[in-house]
Amino acid sequence: MRHAAAPTAAAAPDPRAAGILVPLLVGCLVAVLLGVYGSLHEPTGFSINIIGFSTGAYAKAWLATLAALLGVVQVLSARIMYSRHGAPAWISTLHRWSGRVAVLLTVPVVVHCLFALGFGTYSTRVLVHSLLGCVFYGAFVAKMLSLTRRGLPNWALPVFGGLVFTALIVVWLTSAVWLFGAKGLHT
Ligand code: HEM
Repeated sequence: MRHAAAPTAAAAPDPRAAGILVPLLVGCLVAVLLGVYGSLHEPTGFSINIIGFSTGAYAKAWLATLAALLGVVQVLSARIMYSRHGAPAWISTLHRWSGRVAVLLTVPVVVHCLFALGFGTYSTRVLVHSLLGCVFYGAFVAKMLSLTRRGLPNWALPVFGGLVFTALIVVWLTSAVWLFGAKGLHT
């Protein structure tokens, strides 16, 4: 005769989980504020360019591509830092600097997106791009705030870091990759 499996004890809630509330709330606030600003502000439509690029859109697309590549460096270096064997000191330096440079590269791009283009809803791609662009900065702020907070659950940083990376890749796919596919891969 088969017996029903004994009920397992419910997992106790992690008391440290409450510590992520502040980074999470501030991150959500940043994302919402960017979205509200992008929606309420009348897009100015101004264009920018960098010498060597055919148009400002291509300059933005290549800056976003560099940021996405550095995002991959972020994930790979984080993976090594979290491995059981530990990581050499230069890996955490690489992680910190690739992250800083990646975010800095997105700043001129997002300033143009927000000021000149605004929160676009005219197609699913553009809506997803605008939403995830806001989520990217919200998740980035949440991750930065988590770095300096003590007593957070171990999963907090990888979760926020994963969200920053995922948002960046989706933003890149819905802008730079789309542009390269539609208008050609050149500078
Ligand atoms: C990580 C942040 C972001 C990056 C790297 C990024 C990157 C780009 C790139 C490369 C383009 C294509 C070039 C162009 O059309 O000018 C673009 C277009 C655009 N971006 Fe962003 N963006 C970001 C955030 C945002 C945000 C926060 C918004 C609005 C709230 C936004 C709204 C738009 C819109 C409406 C377009 C035009 C899309 C089209 O019509 O094809 N972007 N973005």
